[in-house]
Amino acid sequence: MHQLVVKGGSGDSIIQVGEHLAALSRYVPGKRVVLITDNNVWDLYGHAFPDHPVIKIGVGEQIKTIETVQQIYTALLEWEADRSTYIVGIGGGIVCDITGYAASTFMRGVGFGFVATTLLAQVDASVGGKNGVNFKGYKNIVGVFNQPEFVLCDTNLLASLPEQEVACGFAEIVKHGAIGDAALFAYLEANYDRALSLEKEVIDKVVFDSIKLKAAVVNRDEKEQGERKILNFGHTFGHAIEKTMAVPHGVAVSLGMVVAANLSVQRGLLSPDDAERINVLLQHMQLPVALDIDRKSVLDAMRRDKKREGQTIHFVLLDRIGHAVVEPIAIKELEKVVTAL
Ligand code: GLY
Repeated sequence: MHQLVVKGGSGDSIIQVGEHLAALSRYVPGKRVVLITDNNVWDLYGHAFPDHPVIKIGVGEQIKTIETVQQIYTALLEWEADRSTYIVGIGGGIVCDITGYAASTFMRGVGFGFVATTLLAQVDASVGGKNGVNFKGYKNIVGVFNQPEFVLCDTNLLASLPEQEVACGFAEIVKHGAIGDAALFAYLEANYDRALSLEKEVIDKVVFDSIKLKAAVVNRDEKEQGERKILNFGHTFGHAIEKTMAVPHGVAVSLGMVVAANLSVQRGLLSPDDAERINVLLQHMQLPVALDIDRKSVLDAMRRDKKREGQTIHFVLLDRIGHAVVEPIAIKELEKVVTAL
């Protein structure tokens, strides 16, 4: 097991990579504990949960709403939760985001932690302190920065994930390599098949390296005033695709990284060879690098991106594998790129 620390304004967040769900009780302080999970995770792993009240939520991006948070508040009141209640979210990105938001707002904030059960949650959604929900078609538009006290990443749980969900987690790992860890990127290039088959040694290493990169960025810029923006590599275009087409997050981010890499080449920042390496690695990770899109809807969605400032969007580009830069891009230039897709 390997430990990492995110030092947030609200306190430290201890990330345990390789820790087991069965060890959860060791991390939970006090007696009044409530667990939040979804129906899938409950069916697969509910038998291994410690003995505490469980709130079950549905699955899918469409339930990441204020209404679901209200259901959690209602259940917490029914369980007579108070300020000493401790909440643990056990699940993927949606469970972690909703749990973090509900715990941060119930009674102005109670202690909380996560057990991340999907690859995407382990390398991205559970780490970093952003918690929130979608509202009126805007992704993560309502939320808070608040660090979970602990995150357990049990890589043994990944074995039950459908192949596409594993691939989607790898989209974020490729992203972390591309923006800040050339060695991780090269390791994945050399070991993609062992990574995809979740070989223990390989998966533990890439999950750890990926979180290490994210934790280091968050430690330097928790509230996304500057450097943290690089974690959005592939996400501006990716979120626009997600808003317009029913594709999983990792699929959208994969396409978004291809667009961002092409834009980086177009601007003379990135060599075509490096853009090709990204393309090839994404395909090795079973991720798409091209898709038929409704260009007009994608452009409309990009215009409504919350990172837009006036006529520009802060777009994350690469100047080499392992190094990102953030540049303001005029909406007009993006229109050209999307139209040319
Ligand atoms: N909770 C995800 C993040 O902070 O990026």
